[in-house]
Amino acid sequence: MRIGPIELSSALFVSPLAGYTNLPMRRIVRELGGLGWATTNLVNARSLIEQNRTALKLVASSPADRPLAIQLFGAVPEEMRDAAIICQELGA
Ligand SMILES: Cc1cc2nc3c(=O)[nH]c(=O)nc-3n(C[C@H](O)[C@H](O)[C@H](O)COP(=O)(O)O)c2cc1C
Repeated sequence: MRIGPIELSSALFVSPLAGYTNLPMRRIVRELGGLGWATTNLVNARSLIEQNRTALKLVASSPADRPLAIQLFGAVPEEMRDAAIICQELGA
């Protein structure tokens, strides 16, 4: 399966589950095999820009934790843009 430039190894995704889809959970599911894509918990765009500790914990990842989507929420377009750039730099 392909989404834009990203070739996924399978069409099985882990949906975002607030409070559950943290790095340890994603690592376990990836180790089980067959996962095409995983998503983080919901992250507040402004908190990520401000490098809030909780936001940084929510986007914590590792090289094996790919391909990865980071789910952002916010109401200010410029903040969403800046947070999306940060996510891209983090490898999302
Ligand atoms: C505990 C829990 C937390 C969830 N958190 C999110 C979330 O943060 N963002 C989101 O888009 N969907 C969230 N969802 C929705 C799921 O990602 C998914 O869309 C929903 O469970 C339906 O999946 P299904 O069609 O496979 O049953 C959550 C669902 C549950 C049960």
